[in-house]
Amino acid sequence: MSIKPEIAKRRTFGIVSHPDAGKTTLTEKLLLFGGAIQEAGAVKSNKIKRHATSDFMEIERQRGISVATSVMAFEYRGLKINILDTPGHQDFAEDTYRTLTAVDSAIVVIDVAKGVETQTEKLVEVCRMRKTPMIVFVNKLDREGKDGFDLLDEIEEKLGLTVCPLSWPVGMGQRFKGVYNLYEKKLNLFQPHGKQESDEIVQIDDTNAEILDQYVGDAAAKELRDDLEIVQTVYPDFDREAYLKGALSPVFFGSAINNFGVKELLDCFIEIAPTPKARETEERIVNPDEDMFSGFVFKIHANMDPRHRDRIAFLRICSGKFKRNTNYLHVRKGKSMKFSNPTAFMAAKKSIVEEAFPGDIVGLYDPGNFKIGDALTDGESLHFKGIPSFSPEQFRYINNANPLKSKQLDKGLSQLVEEGVAQLFTKEDNGRKILGTVGALQFEVIQYRLEHEYGASCAYEGLNLHKACWITSEDPEAMAKIISERKRDIATDKDGHYVFLAESAWALKMAQDNYPDIEFHFTSEFQ
Ligand code: G4P
Repeated sequence: MSIKPEIAKRRTFGIVSHPDAGKTTLTEKLLLFGGAIQEAGAVKSNKIKRHATSDFMEIERQRGISVATSVMAFEYRGLKINILDTPGHQDFAEDTYRTLTAVDSAIVVIDVAKGVETQTEKLVEVCRMRKTPMIVFVNKLDREGKDGFDLLDEIEEKLGLTVCPLSWPVGMGQRFKGVYNLYEKKLNLFQPHGKQESDEIVQIDDTNAEILDQYVGDAAAKELRDDLEIVQTVYPDFDREAYLKGALSPVFFGSAINNFGVKELLDCFIEIAPTPKARETEERIVNPDEDMFSGFVFKIHANMDPRHRDRIAFLRICSGKFKRNTNYLHVRKGKSMKFSNPTAFMAAKKSIVEEAFPGDIVGLYDPGNFKIGDALTDGESLHFKGIPSFSPEQFRYINNANPLKSKQLDKGLSQLVEEGVAQLFTKEDNGRKILGTVGALQFEVIQYRLEHEYGASCAYEGLNLHKACWITSEDPEAMAKIISERKRDIATDKDGHYVFLAESAWALKMAQDNYPDIEFHFTSEFQ
């Protein structure tokens, strides 16, 4: 039987935002529409509350929650929708970036009052790099915020997106009357805390008609007409092809907490968002509708119980049909493996799956076989591209604090590095080990996990570095030159690739100028 109908049913996406913009609230409302949960409050917020930002135990607790919310699937109008959770806290950033390699599209949530925030910038940059189609949802219109046009300017400028509003707000905060859906030419009137079913939606094909004044009042009607005139002259029309190429982002306005504007977003999303896409491997392009199964691991989650060292590897299915208890090739290990209890995630519930299709995510019980980026196939040797590591921004020397436990330390470190918790570099001049992470709290987490899960203890030593970036060159002599001349600033990563350790932005710039034949990479995607 062809798997095409199953592929056509699937939409796999991630919601990206800065903490507090409303990702959890929006996710919850989407799940409510799909009937995957029955009541509000069922989805635990994955964010680390402000007061707890220096508490690494909180990260441990959040790790537990984030297993449950890693993938939330629901059915809506005959489609199967997979939401991949992308923790917004910056100390999870690396994990979040990787998750974005497993989605086919993204929804970007922006707080109307705060506008574009740092974490959103970083996450959108990853999506842009991968040409992931993005829809923007401007949230919290029930509060006073930035002017719509200023906000769109900010989105274009800071996020580098070309936007096209598909809805437009009528007032905001106290004066918020609703949104006009430009796509369907409908006015959706706002009622605080209203259920979507009871929202009043009026078809208004011509906004110049008097009926608009009757619904929103003269002043708001005039403002909307003026705004729409600008919208129509300034922004491009929606073009699905451009959206699918990541070149145009539709924008919606609403209020997630009031469940307002969420249904429009979802209805538009299922109409325009891409079905599971073809994936690039080093060998060839893999199409989802091929008969042969293939998939890759994009995230590994350690068990929090130190007595069980097992982990869950999250596999994105890229082609063919995945079946339980079937032998597949673990390409890197050249070993055949089968899985007796692969897990699927429906909202907060986990269940064993018999089969899964492209776009789906399955959780595989893993005693330590997988690394991020590993491929599983029906027998073909495939290496999926574009599962990058990102150049870390926080660094410490790591020393063994208990010489009797050096084996445990090595094992723990190598497993944590495989999980993608941190990157480990070895200095070229003296062999010292440096840990690099995207967020500072990760150091505490690593120390704690090494002790509790591996019985090893480590000590850190400060290190003033600005960035570590991978270096390559087409000219082996140029490579040999920089390595010998700058030994103190060179290290190797876990795969033996050379990395340049820059003490400052200036030092990096100088090195780039002094070694023109060397390419400096800020993600490992060049490999
Ligand atoms: P996050 O996952 O992106 O971190 O954000 P989350 O959904 O947890 O929302 C952050 C805060 O913003 C929450 O308030 C939430 O209730 C509020 N919020 C979400 N959507 C809207 C909206 O449309 N309008 C308004 N006014 N607020 C919204 P909190 O006080 O931090 O948490 P809670 O105590 O309400 O859970």
